[in-house]
Amino acid sequence: MTLLVTGGAGFIGSNFVLDWLADPAAEPIVNLDALTYAGNRQNLAALADDGRHLFVHGDIGTRELLDRLLQEHRPRAVLHLAAESHVDRSIHGPGAFIKTNVEGTFTLLEAVRAYWSALPHDARAAFRFLHVSTDEVYGSLAPDAPAFTEQHPYAPNSPYSASKAASDHLVRAWHHTYGLPVLTTNCSNNYGPLQFPEKLIPLMIANALAGKPLPIYGDGQQVRDWLYVGDHCSAIRTVLARGTPGEVYNIGGWNEQPNRAIVHTICGLLDELRPDPGGTYARLITHVKDRPGHDRRYAIDARKIERELGWRPGETFDSGIRKTVHWYLAHAAWVAAVQSGSYRDWVATNYAGRG
Ligand code: NAD
Ligand code: TYD
Repeated sequence: MTLLVTGGAGFIGSNFVLDWLADPAAEPIVNLDALTYAGNRQNLAALADDGRHLFVHGDIGTRELLDRLLQEHRPRAVLHLAAESHVDRSIHGPGAFIKTNVEGTFTLLEAVRAYWSALPHDARAAFRFLHVSTDEVYGSLAPDAPAFTEQHPYAPNSPYSASKAASDHLVRAWHHTYGLPVLTTNCSNNYGPLQFPEKLIPLMIANALAGKPLPIYGDGQQVRDWLYVGDHCSAIRTVLARGTPGEVYNIGGWNEQPNRAIVHTICGLLDELRPDPGGTYARLITHVKDRPGHDRRYAIDARKIERELGWRPGETFDSGIRKTVHWYLAHAAWVAAVQSGSYRDWVATNYAGRG
């Protein structure tokens, strides 16, 4: 028995692979990743001598490669995490998002459908295609509106969320039309170890430690629901083990907070753990020009996964953010390595015009 994971060198994917293989009895993983700017083989360095991890450098859009991997390894499940994942990048260059998130998911679904259709009866019934998606497909909530349930209408507002919404629809249709046993998860914002410092939390930690400005978009009152990545990994495992094919499960941290509060919490933790003689890190906070089309609020109603599958997050935000800040303090070399080269070009592109 094997799992095929796509995007397993990225933030959530590498946390998932490390977490899964931490169990000595766990099934092997074939990890297919294109190693874009967000993919990092160093994330998987601890598995260098683990024969249960096979890393394959390749694109989910290459049908022949997918056919070969599926035939050779005969996975009992495919966990699809590969994606272009950053909203700001999708604003500057939406093409890559359509290519990977929409066309890549289509190619993967077709390859998986061909493989699954030819499986013997029992293996066909047991097979699962788990599609990892985002709460951003539901659009933006008013301040007092109820949180997103699985029935919330789709209203994606960014090229990223539109491309993820399209992929969700494809996955749904492959179930409805062909009977492919799919599971879809829509998760809120993740944070934790190994997150590329283009996203809010690791960017603020890295900038603060470097004495650089902490750029809050607009008024900083945009609300996100933050989930520790280890909890997302446990939710994915739960859905894979016990989810009902064709069903959608929202995953969230029951932790809505405005961006300004998140940045102040990070500054307070750094003041405690790595005091700066220059004064409190909060002095570095700068309000910059807002993101175009910026969604004001996301919030997940995670009652279905709790009621039906018994999953709840294990970390509070206090415990998760403390672990995260500790991790970044202990992994300065990892941060320095990912900040070299194209990262600098991205920072110049995204922040130069914000004033
Ligand atoms: P990430 O950007 O850190 O990693 C994405 C990985 O996919 C990288 O390793 C990259 O090399 C790989 N990849 C990109 N294009 C590929 C292609 N064409 N073929 C093969 N591999 C390719 O993203 P992440 O934050 O780990 O997100 C993983 C998944 O979870 C995504 O589908 C994302 O939409 C979803 N998600 C993320 C969050 C979050 O807060 N980060 C929240 C909810 C859902
Ligand atoms: P991000 O981590 O990019 O996730 P998403 O856009 O998918 O929610 O951003 C989280 C929030 O933080 C979002 O409201 C945008 C805001 N933000 C800033 O204020 N400054 C920044 O430099 C970044 C990267 C994000």
